Amino acid sequence: MKIEKYEEKLLSEAAAISTKNLARKQGSVAWSSPSNIALVKYWGKYPGQIPANASLSMTLDSAVTIMKLDYTSGESINGPVLNFEFEGSKAPDFAIKLEKYLQGIVPFMPWLDSCKLSIRSENTFPHSSGIASSASSMSALALGLCEIEELLYGEAVTDDFLRKASFIARLGSGSASRSLYGKMAAWGITASYAHSSDEYAIPVEIHEDLSGMHDSILIIDPGQKMVSSTMGHELMRTNPYAKLRFEAAEANMQLMADVLKIGDTRKFIDVMENEALSLHAMMMTGIPGYILIKPNTLEAIQRIRKFRNSTGTAIGFTLDAGANVHVLYPEKAAAKARLFIESELKEICDNEKIIHDKMGNGPVRVER
Ligand code: PMV
Repeated sequence: MKIEKYEEKLLSEAAAISTKNLARKQGSVAWSSPSNIALVKYWGKYPGQIPANASLSMTLDSAVTIMKLDYTSGESINGPVLNFEFEGSKAPDFAIKLEKYLQGIVPFMPWLDSCKLSIRSENTFPHSSGIASSASSMSALALGLCEIEELLYGEAVTDDFLRKASFIARLGSGSASRSLYGKMAAWGITASYAHSSDEYAIPVEIHEDLSGMHDSILIIDPGQKMVSSTMGHELMRTNPYAKLRFEAAEANMQLMADVLKIGDTRKFIDVMENEALSLHAMMMTGIPGYILIKPNTLEAIQRIRKFRNSTGTAIGFTLDAGANVHVLYPEKAAAKARLFIESELKEICDNEKIIHDKMGNGPVRVER
């Protein structure tokens, strides 16, 4: 596999610290890290978790993972040993996945090889709600690991803590790489941002009219989705429209980057909605094709568009890889949008469930 540029830098920094003898140390760190919702979608990847196209997301505020990591380093063990609890209960299936992930990142964090970790994680949002828990949890984990690394060596191991955390998070879940930054972040090489990278995400500047954007998530279907994102990425390898999609995504990145600079809410909505529908078009045109949206997903979309057209309110939708609908609107339109959501969208949600969130400021350290 091709070794990327930033990866090479991290590997040489890891080689430098691996020569230092680590005393047995114990401690704990804790982070609260948000999920994000993609506005330009990442769908399709190459080996080594390299995205087929660049993506851009809005960081959420209330939808976070709170993760506490207790560590004991310098143990005579072979490979990281993990004890994992999710919301107070052991989660053995997830623990196995995490242990595999930790083994995979040992080349970048050699101290993990002799480290025992005990992780307790909880989310502020329900499972299968259309909020990506992989983004919040893998970014929280990456931050915790980067902080442990600094505590063990008593100094910064790399010059950009968040960039390394984004890189490490990406290896667990591509979209998690974008959760390291507040407001909005872009991941993947794109002509729109000079310092963009396939290896980590970067924060992006946004116009103040788009700052404080709301996201009300309509729970159309609370069930587990039938086809995982991993499978969805995989199916892009044989999708006959894949090449066109990757080109269209790059064109949308450029449109979105311009829109974010000038703060054009109307165009923001156009690009965002095109991306959501394109993502689901890719699912439908895969071989085999599949459908994750439900009749009420379409009903919500139609009601949103009708309301927008008849009132001129700046409100639009995006979809993740599932049936639930993210309804986005700027602060200026919030009062009208909320009334509409309550009176016309709530009734088509499962048990009238809606999660109200908004643009957030990114991860924070929390009390250990
Ligand atoms: O990071 P993954 O592998 O869970 O893929 C995320 C894919 C989408 O959520 C559908 C789009 C995105 O860019 O977040």
